[in-house]
Amino acid sequence: MKKIVSLAKRRGFVFQSSEIYGGVEALWDFGPLGAAMKENIKREWKKRFVQQMENIVLLDASILMHPSVWKASGHVENFTDPLIECKSCNGRFRADHMIDGRFVGQGEAKEANQCPNCGDRDFTSSKNFNLMFRTFLGPIEDAANATYLRPETAQAMFTNFKLVQETMRQKLPFGIAQVGKAFRNEITTGNFIFRSREFELAEIEYFVKPGEDEKWFDFWVDQWEQFLLDLGLKKENLRRYEHPKASLAHYSKRTVDIEYKFPFGWGELAGIANRTDFDLKQHAKFSGQDLSYRDDETGEKIIPYVIEPTVGVERLFLALLLDAYEEVEGGRTTTTESAKEKETVLKLSGKIAPVQVAVFPLLKNKPELTAKAQEVYNLLEKDFMCQYDEVGAIGRRYRRQDEIGTPFCITIDFETLEKNDVTLRDRDTMEQVRVPLEALSGELRARLT
Ligand code: GAP
Repeated sequence: MKKIVSLAKRRGFVFQSSEIYGGVEALWDFGPLGAAMKENIKREWKKRFVQQMENIVLLDASILMHPSVWKASGHVENFTDPLIECKSCNGRFRADHMIDGRFVGQGEAKEANQCPNCGDRDFTSSKNFNLMFRTFLGPIEDAANATYLRPETAQAMFTNFKLVQETMRQKLPFGIAQVGKAFRNEITTGNFIFRSREFELAEIEYFVKPGEDEKWFDFWVDQWEQFLLDLGLKKENLRRYEHPKASLAHYSKRTVDIEYKFPFGWGELAGIANRTDFDLKQHAKFSGQDLSYRDDETGEKIIPYVIEPTVGVERLFLALLLDAYEEVEGGRTTTTESAKEKETVLKLSGKIAPVQVAVFPLLKNKPELTAKAQEVYNLLEKDFMCQYDEVGAIGRRYRRQDEIGTPFCITIDFETLEKNDVTLRDRDTMEQVRVPLEALSGELRARLT
C-alpha cells in the first residue's frame, strides 16, 4: 500500500487535499493522471450499463435535496455509526470496530481496552453518530432550512422514478443509472482512498416486478462482478460476501458484497442490494404522491421492487492500481546499462490507463525527428490520450511510461523519415514492431480494445 500511495503522489494520480495547509484527513484530490483514469472508469461504466443496455437511462441529480428525502429514506434515523469518546483526550472511535478490546484500524494501543491516542481507559458510553453532513439552504441557519449533502446517489433515482419512467416511456424492468459525489462524515478513516469523507458512487436502481426480484438480484451480482473482471481485476482477488440477515441495512432484503483482497485484508468494493419496495413506498408516504406503476398486461397498479448494484469509484480506482502494480527486481530490460535497476510496471487495461500512447523522437537534438514526432503526436491526440516525451534515453522514457501504465509507446527514428513508419512498443511484452503511419491509429485502437 505504501508503494501505491507513494507512486500515486509522485506521478500525479492522487494528492492529499489542501496539502500546503498540512492536508485534511480523508479528503483527496485526483491529480492529472488520477483524474484521467477516474474519468475512464466512469466512461467504461456508462458505456457498459447505459449505452449497451437499452432499458437503463442516465440521471444527473443535484447533491442537495429536499430535507424530507432523508427522513423518508431512513437516513436521519438510521445512517449512524456507534461512537465512543475517550474522556481524557476526546479521541473518537467506532465502537463496532473494537475486537478483543482493540480498535481495528484506529491507531495502535499498547494494551487491550486502551485509547489508541493517549492510553487512557475511560470512555463514554456508545452514542449513535449520524454520518450525514448537515448544511443550510439559503441565508438562515435554522432547522427549517437544514438539509444534508447526499450520502448516496440512490435517493434521487427514487424521487425521479415516475418522471423518468413517464418521460422515457420505460416498462418494467428498467433501470436508472447515476454516477456522482457522495459525502459521509466517517468517524474512522485511513487506508488511503479506501474510506474517505467525499467520494463518488456509481449506482443503478433497477426497477422490477415484485416476485421477479430474486431472479434479477442474481443477474446483477453476475453483471457487476463481470464488469470488475473486464476492467482487469484478477479473479483470485475478488470474492462474494453474503450479508447475514442481522447485518442488513434497514432497507435491504438481501445484500451481497463483492470484496477485493486489499493489502490490509478483504474489504468491500461493491455491493448488490435488494431494496424491495421500501424506498418508493416511503417516498410515496412522505410526499403524498402516487409512485405506483401500472402493469400493462394486468392493468394492476404495483409498487416495483428495486435491485441496486453499487460501486465506489475511488475504491475501484485503488483496487485497479493495486492489482496492476508489478515490480521486477533487476529490471526487465537486458539491452541497456540501466538493466540492473528495479522496474515498476503498472499493467492497467488500455481502457482505463490515463495515458494510452506516448510519442518519442529517438533524439531530442535532431529537429527533423522532433518535428516528425510532433506531427505523429498531433495525429494521435485526436483519438487517444497521448503524452509527448523527448527527455532522456529511450529506455528511461519507456520505464517512465511503464510506471504510469501507458500500454504503448511510439518512437520516431531516422527510418521513419525514409519509410514513414514508426516503432510501436508494447508495455507488457516489450515487443517492438514497425507500423506504417497510415495504419497506426487503427492498429492502436485494435490493440487498446
Ligand atoms: N446506495 C447504496 C450504498 O450507498 P454503501 O455500501 O453504503 O451502499 C456503496 O456504499 C459503495 O460505496 C461501497 O461498496 C464502497 O465501494 C463505497 N464507499 C462507501 N463508503 C465509502 C467511503 N467512506 N469512502 C469511499 N468509498 C466508500
